[in-house]
Amino acid sequence: MPNASLAIDAAQLLAQIAALGTIGFDSDDAGRTRIALSDEDKAGRDQLVQWMRDLDLEVRIDRIGNIFGILHAPTDEGDRQPLMIGSHIDTVRNAGALDGCYGVLSGLAVARAYRAADSLPPRALIVAAFTNEEGVRYQPDMMGSLVYAGGLPVEAALDVIGTDGTRLGDELARIGYTGDLEPGSIVPREYIELHVEQGPILEAEGRLIGVVENLQGISWQKISVRGTANHAGTTPTRLRHDAGYVAAAIIAFLREGVVAAAPETTLATTGSICFEPDVINVIPRLATFTVDLRDPDDERLRAAEMRLANFLAMIAEREGVTIESERLVRFAPVVFDGALAADIETSAQRLGFSHRRMTSGAGHDAQMIARIVPAAMIFVPSRGGISHNPREHTEDAQLINGAQVLLDVVQRRLARA
Ligand code: GLV
Ligand code: MN
Ligand code: MN
Repeated sequence: MPNASLAIDAAQLLAQIAALGTIGFDSDDAGRTRIALSDEDKAGRDQLVQWMRDLDLEVRIDRIGNIFGILHAPTDEGDRQPLMIGSHIDTVRNAGALDGCYGVLSGLAVARAYRAADSLPPRALIVAAFTNEEGVRYQPDMMGSLVYAGGLPVEAALDVIGTDGTRLGDELARIGYTGDLEPGSIVPREYIELHVEQGPILEAEGRLIGVVENLQGISWQKISVRGTANHAGTTPTRLRHDAGYVAAAIIAFLREGVVAAAPETTLATTGSICFEPDVINVIPRLATFTVDLRDPDDERLRAAEMRLANFLAMIAEREGVTIESERLVRFAPVVFDGALAADIETSAQRLGFSHRRMTSGAGHDAQMIARIVPAAMIFVPSRGGISHNPREHTEDAQLINGAQVLLDVVQRRLARA
């Protein structure tokens, strides 16, 4: 049974979330930007490491820059079977303060609960902050946890070239976070990630806790359409090879031909696009844009990719353009550990919080760690279902509920042999 003397220090957790949220803050749009391995990411990492040291955690950093704060067990045997709590502190551009940070700082809150009670966990507790979860500058996303789980060799990850032409390994070294630990060398017995839902379901149903039992598949590609630049005023429509028009047609097809085939589950987004030469009176010669496709069912995700591929072939032929598609990310749907999910559900129940089982629409580090050890996630509501936006918000009391569930699950897991 959980030790009743262990408690989340709510004020401290909320203060740390607010403080981390000031790093990379842009007062013009009230959001913060800590793109992986930027100066702002370094400042966030430095703050996190300081907080780990304040709790007298052992800080270890691996070769891909994942940060671990270790609260050791009283015995070597306990140290060999750690429980890991993790997430990330990098952000998208113009982000809220909660995505990722909430999970990492709640991990610190659990460690703080042990420290405050002058108690050691029977198995080591590790708080992890994984590198480049967001995948904004370097793809794939969830990169640090993917490397950690053995899904991508560390050398390949270090060699990834970013959207700004930088090499990931150089930037990691520049900010001083190339560690010496071999990724994956600490294998926890289980992994738990607490996160804001980033979607509308819990709020709409008035429930406090999401017990995340699976996570949808994610397919990212970069599409380049090459046409012919020509004069906007003199080129008859029938003679155009208009990369801009073709890009627009593809984006419309994503909604009307791909999503429409499975409107309840398939999602499609073009979040980034650019034209060349990008001039008002020139037909674009080049359009490059991204496609993010998701579905919880791998067969349906494959069907969506196929529909898109067929359309690309058709429109390239019809419009006299060439189209290349580069795969950036392909992650299959993940089913989390049933026993761990059941433990989360029991804790929510014990603490009197309404809850439901759910699917994660977002990608998370937990999906990578689930490749190697039992993993599951806890969600708390997101106001208006908004995330990847500075308006991302969860009520303080709901944030604390989630941290309490996390602490309860951790204690109950650790109380077992
Ligand atoms: C991660 O934030 C994702 O793209 O789901
Ligand atoms: Mn996240
Ligand atoms: Mn995110």
